[in-house]
Amino acid sequence: MDSLKIGNLKIKYLALLSPLAALTDIVFRKLLDEIGYAGYMVTEIISAEGVRRQQDRTLQMLKTFDYITPQFVQLFGAEPAQFVEAVKYIENETNFAGIDINMGCPANKVIKKGGGAALLKDPAGAGEIIRQIKTHSRLPLTVKIRLGFNQVNVLEMVEVLEQEGADAIVVHFRLRSEGYRGCANWDYAPQIREKINTVFIGNGDIRTAAQAKEKMAHVDGVMIGRGAISNPLIFAEIAGEEPGYGAKAWDTAAISTRLLELIEEHYEKKLQLGRVKAFTRFLFWGKKYGKKARQRIYNASTFQEAKDFFASLLQKDFTNL
Ligand SMILES: Cc1cc2nc3c(=O)[nH]c(=O)nc-3n(C[C@H](O)[C@H](O)[C@H](O)COP(=O)(O)O)c2cc1C
Repeated sequence: MDSLKIGNLKIKYLALLSPLAALTDIVFRKLLDEIGYAGYMVTEIISAEGVRRQQDRTLQMLKTFDYITPQFVQLFGAEPAQFVEAVKYIENETNFAGIDINMGCPANKVIKKGGGAALLKDPAGAGEIIRQIKTHSRLPLTVKIRLGFNQVNVLEMVEVLEQEGADAIVVHFRLRSEGYRGCANWDYAPQIREKINTVFIGNGDIRTAAQAKEKMAHVDGVMIGRGAISNPLIFAEIAGEEPGYGAKAWDTAAISTRLLELIEEHYEKKLQLGRVKAFTRFLFWGKKYGKKARQRIYNASTFQEAKDFFASLLQKDFTNL
């Protein structure tokens, strides 16, 4: 397959940006939209109840922009009615292209309320959420799940979700009980592929374009999270295209400069340093100098200090810390 059809939406590229709490915010998604070549992108996890109640903090997370790459909102919640109201709001009031439902979040505070990975323990309840959203909305609807809660039940889950009308199913190949430890177990991909006809997207531990291409053999598309923060060019590399649609050269300097610019543009002053620190966790992931660079940014006490450090790092070409 050289493109994906998710609901009524044609997705041109097969590698997608995974939702990452506090990371796939408007800043990172805008940066990636300029660099290009992700099939679609998903926001950080957002409370359906918060959207339904139109809470200020939640609506901040729904701020959008004129994008090239389709943008999806990821919602968490437990009750079908919460989701239906939230989806109606997003459909009527924003330009988001689709909705993703979180059924994989391992955090206790989400699970306690019956959301995230808790839904993996209740396939019928999960199916009901999808059925009701589909009844009330025409937005493309995807679901992101894990292999299971404590035990694998992914085959049962994907069957129910397909039956109830999910337009795509994303599987992060870990159990809830595994958190982010160990390796994602892609061995389940062929069985899932056999079981369902709906669009099937695999996720977990993809760090390079070569790995993405290898994984594509058993899935329709791949979703990349941490690997995209550490290398925002990964989608262009997978697509075999020049990043930035030829408008500008995107090297490490250009990426970090634009990231800092967008942080200044979208966050008030007192939040800016915290935002740089959040990205720093994965920005230097796997790089030789990563630990030291991270430490320097974590120790910075002002946004300007972090900015100056990035500038010095770039002059030294990242080698001389
Ligand atoms: C810091 C962090 C935040 C995450 N936030 C979310 C989230 O908000 N929603 C979600 O569905 N998954 C979330 N995940 C899981 C990722 O989307 C993805 O499934 C997981 O990291 C495996 O993919 P990767 O190896 O490509 O990062 C998060 C993971 C990390 C490390």
